[in-house]
Amino acid sequence: MSDLSTRLIHHPYRAPEGFEAVPPGVFKASTVVFPSVQALRTQEWKDKSGYTYGLHGTPTTFTLEERIATIEGGRLCVLAPSGLSAVALVDMAFLRQGDEVLLPDNAYGPGKSFAAGELAAWGITHRYYDPMNPADLAERISPATRLVWLEAPGSITLEFPDLPALVAVVGQANDGRAGSRPIVTALDNTWGAGIAFNAFELGVDVSMQALTKYPSGGADVLMGSVVTRDEALHQQLLLCHMRLGLGVGANDAELVLRGLPSMALRYHAQDAATRALAQWMGHQPGVVQVLHPALDGSPGHDHFVRDARAAACLFSAVFDPSIPQERVDAFCDALQLFRLGWSWAGPISLCAPYDVRAMRTTPWPHAGGLVRFAVGLEAADDLRADLAQALAVLNA
Ligand SMILES: Cc1ncc(COP(=O)(O)O)c(C=O)c1O
Repeated sequence: MSDLSTRLIHHPYRAPEGFEAVPPGVFKASTVVFPSVQALRTQEWKDKSGYTYGLHGTPTTFTLEERIATIEGGRLCVLAPSGLSAVALVDMAFLRQGDEVLLPDNAYGPGKSFAAGELAAWGITHRYYDPMNPADLAERISPATRLVWLEAPGSITLEFPDLPALVAVVGQANDGRAGSRPIVTALDNTWGAGIAFNAFELGVDVSMQALTKYPSGGADVLMGSVVTRDEALHQQLLLCHMRLGLGVGANDAELVLRGLPSMALRYHAQDAATRALAQWMGHQPGVVQVLHPALDGSPGHDHFVRDARAAACLFSAVFDPSIPQERVDAFCDALQLFRLGWSWAGPISLCAPYDVRAMRTTPWPHAGGLVRFAVGLEAADDLRADLAQALAVLNA
């Protein structure tokens, strides 16, 4: 080993064992190196007893998975490179050609698009159900149904469904189909994030989350997770995950690990600011309804009161139908602190206008424009002032 290039790669120095610190280490590698052929053949990653390849887990990603499982009250977790890829992973792990998936009509849009674009091309059908009507879900379940997605509350319109009732409908369907593959229930739990309610206590099998939102909290990383309490479902997810070659970068995992200790504080602070702004917004001229599950009169408010301990940083305002969309757009353009953007749960407040009628199959009762607001970590008084000056433009 006389050549410097070889000596630098095979350097004999080993840092001493025993470096103990609060932040978890950031481990990076395409592959691990094995001490022997025997180890190469036998080391196991699926139960986290060892390491085999960067994609199959590192101390950093195993640590993050364990913490996310704990936050959600689950047992087993797998990470994906974005929230959307976590949605797709659940679909691909549990659905086969000829199967059907049922989605709530107010589901996260790109998840619908995955079903319509990719799943359909693979011979997997999808149908929408009214998430506020468990009888509608019961009617739509067919012998081909294998997966039922849930979301609480729904994206953009924030209706809070009766999760235990929806889960019970699926349970009844499963009771009647001995011998065939049971229907799996999967919740998009990005809004609740494991803080607002325990998805598993409400009966769901699988909880998916965009770690992009609260767990990261920094608006600077994209990641997703899928948590279960069920070993067999977890193994199905893990194998699909491995075959797809999904992995997350160590620096991204580190960013999420850094976000977790402050997650509950951020969640509750943003919850308090959001409720205050949502309530205030409901009394402003030009606003016909504010959608936020903690507000009396918001769809599913009673389910929220019964099942949730907290609420996320989102509310939507529905404007008077006499206000043309151009004025709603001008209102959004006039906002200074609320920036235009899709995401949420980061430090910066965001908003975006939506055309709800174009997004769903069930009737939508409002004719006016809708804007979804995501409240960040700025002072609530400053955000209220920003909304007030933009409302002056809306109502000019
Ligand atoms: C409810 C919900 N689920 C999933 C996602 C997808 O997360 P990502 O942006 O990490 O793909 C989002 C993103 O906005 C979301 O709002």
